[in-house]
Amino acid sequence: MDRVHQLRELLDQYNYEYYVLDNPSVPDSEYDRLMKELIDIEAAHPELITPDSPTQRVGAEPLKAFQKVIHKTPMLSLGNAFDEADLRDFDRRVRQGVGDQKVTYVAELKIDGLAVSLTYENGQLVLGATRGDGTTGEDITQNIKTIRSVPLKLKQPVNLEVRGEAYMPRASFERLNKRRAEAGEPLFANPRNAASGSLRQLDPKIAADRKLDVFLYQIGSTDGKELRRHSDGLEWIQSLGLKTNPEWRRCDSLQKVLDFIAYWTEKRPELPYDIDGIVIKVDSLEQQRMLGFTAKSPRWAIAYKFPAEEVVTTVEGIALTVGRTGAITPTAVLTPVQVAGTTVGRATLHNEDYIREKDIRIGDQVVIHKAGDIIPEVVRVLKERRTGREVPFRMPEQCPDCGSDLVRIEGEAALRCINPKCPAQIQEGLIHFVSRNAMNIDGLGEKVIKQLFKNDLVQDVADIYALTYDDLIKLERMGDKSVRNLLSAIAESKKNSLERLLFGLGIRYIGAKAAKTLAQAFGTIDRLMAATTEELLSVEEIGDKMADSIRTYFSSPDVRALIGELKSYGLNMTYTGGTTQEANAADSPFNGKTVVLTGKLSAMSRDEARSAIEKLGGKVTGSVSKKTDLVIAGEDAGSKLTKAEALGIEIWDEARFMEALNT
Ligand code: IVH
Repeated sequence: MDRVHQLRELLDQYNYEYYVLDNPSVPDSEYDRLMKELIDIEAAHPELITPDSPTQRVGAEPLKAFQKVIHKTPMLSLGNAFDEADLRDFDRRVRQGVGDQKVTYVAELKIDGLAVSLTYENGQLVLGATRGDGTTGEDITQNIKTIRSVPLKLKQPVNLEVRGEAYMPRASFERLNKRRAEAGEPLFANPRNAASGSLRQLDPKIAADRKLDVFLYQIGSTDGKELRRHSDGLEWIQSLGLKTNPEWRRCDSLQKVLDFIAYWTEKRPELPYDIDGIVIKVDSLEQQRMLGFTAKSPRWAIAYKFPAEEVVTTVEGIALTVGRTGAITPTAVLTPVQVAGTTVGRATLHNEDYIREKDIRIGDQVVIHKAGDIIPEVVRVLKERRTGREVPFRMPEQCPDCGSDLVRIEGEAALRCINPKCPAQIQEGLIHFVSRNAMNIDGLGEKVIKQLFKNDLVQDVADIYALTYDDLIKLERMGDKSVRNLLSAIAESKKNSLERLLFGLGIRYIGAKAAKTLAQAFGTIDRLMAATTEELLSVEEIGDKMADSIRTYFSSPDVRALIGELKSYGLNMTYTGGTTQEANAADSPFNGKTVVLTGKLSAMSRDEARSAIEKLGGKVTGSVSKKTDLVIAGEDAGSKLTKAEALGIEIWDEARFMEALNT
């Protein structure tokens, strides 16, 4: 009897060191030897077996079904925050709710597993349950006992209901999927699904084999301890032998919470388990009581969710677009899903080789993510989910727009339509010509261009300058005012410095930057058109490919005729960037930004500031919203500044603004 007792104590101790502290004091063989001794004694004297004996983790027989468990207090979930503005709102509500007392938060990792509740009576584990719908869960005690870091007995004989997350460490997940792949079994999509599937097994041997783990993070109820802070609770349950996550912090300001989030956003790939966010809780239990609950969740806590980086969706089709240069680009048409904060319905597939390499088929389920956080891309195909009804894709031999034969140019992955009259190419070229970094004609977007083209009003870029009031007023959704604005934007664009025209013409390999370099070097279009290859190459940053492309472009009689026509409409063909600042827009910090001015500036009037920003490619609006990129706050700035702060928008003072204008 004494030996049984002693063996159990030792085994509990070694188990705790190994699974909770991750710091074993004896070799595995010693543990195994003691365990065998205990198993043998219990086999000979079954009357000595107790439910908390270390031999009882796996032994149970498979169940027919799980019993329902009604939680003593509901297992609530948390409200979500997706960005800094949401967290500032939360902080404001909390501070208001506690009558402006000082608030300390505890920030914890949000473990991506499934919520479980453990009940200990007199220090003995009597129940392990799933969250279920929050009110009623399932009794999964048998499976919970197989998690080696869950103590069957606490270090003190307390009554305690404690909540936490059961999860599958990444290493266990990879091992499991490898084994399943070898056995030809379907794979789990992620560790969370694997953990949840494992705890729902009726046979505890399967759960035992899956190598789950747990972190406890919340006391449900206890009569064992007077506590004043949530963080004291974490320390207390840890002292009872329960496994808590070590990465929590007390934060005495929202800023510290934001820093914690920033830190873990970067470090999360280094953790051996998945987290999907950060949970923020008010530390003081008195303040928690003051704040209370809504119907669904506590007012004293919130879950900040990391933007989902990878999601699964279905390829519904593959669409083809004809670019300005005739390149045919396949695009996956996807069932729309949220990825990293926006809805994604399409992903570029680049070219035929790319589709073949990844073996992407119509009907496939695919993992998508945003490359560089902007461009949606297919990461991989979930081939194990194929039904056999997926359709492989083949590139057509003819241009989907004009029907002419496509060619594959040596050394290029793209198929091209080389018909210079291809309507799709012409339209794309027109859209490029009027775009922001090119001629920048406001009011002439893709939709209007397509209408103009369809109605035969514009065939090439010169036709834009022949448009009349009567032509435009006939178009859909064009009123008197928009027609007048558009005509004046077209007229205004004639004054653009040369580089905008050069870029707008869409000469191959000549981007906005090269266009500016060329405009600066040659000054006028006539000089550029007359330049020899040698002269072109003497310009820094202009290489062989660009020089050849420029020579070929301007040697075409059609191009020369077009330039002549544009001249006759009065377009400026000279580099004026040195005098007008306008040419600098492409490099300016205001280019493409929506800016709000507030407060008084000492060096200039509002109107002067507005026109300076506009000249550098920025747009000035009157009120602060989520779309605002930058707020410039002068003296006595009021509510706009407060709102900008709340939304986490970048704010500059006058000194910073003047510095940006002068560089
Ligand atoms: S506290 C009433 N802390 O996230 C407070 N939850 O959306 C209950 N979770 O259902 C939750 N890590 O499954 C809390 N450190 C953590 C957590 C955490 C993961 C899960 C839990 C909960 C969900 C909330």
